[in-house]
Amino acid sequence: MDVPGGNGPTESGERMPDIPAALFREVLGCLPTGVTVVAAEGGRGPVGMAANSFTSVSLEPPMVLLCPARSSSTWPQIRAAGRFCVNVMHERHSEMTRRFAQRGVDRFAGLGWHPRPGGPAIEDAVAWIDCVLLDEHDAGDHTIVVAEVVAIEASEDTSPLVFHRGRYGGFLHGAPEDSG
Ligand SMILES: Cc1cc2nc3c(=O)[nH]c(=O)nc-3n(C[C@H](O)[C@H](O)[C@H](O)COP(=O)(O)O)c2cc1C
Repeated sequence: MDVPGGNGPTESGERMPDIPAALFREVLGCLPTGVTVVAAEGGRGPVGMAANSFTSVSLEPPMVLLCPARSSSTWPQIRAAGRFCVNVMHERHSEMTRRFAQRGVDRFAGLGWHPRPGGPAIEDAVAWIDCVLLDEHDAGDHTIVVAEVVAIEASEDTSPLVFHRGRYGGFLHGAPEDSG
């Protein structure tokens, strides 16, 4: 794909030294992902953050990973809980997901949830994946978090929210509904 200001390989095939962050985001954003809210019981109620870096790792034993930014103020609270519930967001959840990426707002205000073995389960999510924290690995300005899956459940209405090039859309039921 031709991205304006693209930073292609040098003639020798080595990578160019400086890849601007905006270009990195733009090109990596070409890969559509699902969107999760990773939630835990904090000391003073539920805490959670939007994350699309979530993926499965191992089947036996069941393991997953996600990559919180070092700058995240929510991840240390989830780490302290030692367990969390990964909520796979529904295509109707774009507004709610946006809130889970904002600071200075009550992310759980007016939101229906109930406790699960890992942490808060958001009502109407597509799936819930309960995890126990296993390990963390440094990775630049992010951390690779590896967790063991201890319980799982999927809803019957499995229309996930999709994130692609900064926009939210649906997978089963049509076109992108709005822009990020
Ligand atoms: C669709 C989407 C995906 C995101 N994925 C991640 C992620 O994988 N890792 C991360 O650290 N932040 C991710 N964020 C940003 C965080 O949700 C947000 O920066 C964070 O919650 C900021 O607040 P905090 O300081 O409470 O962590 C994502 C945001 C959105 C909207």
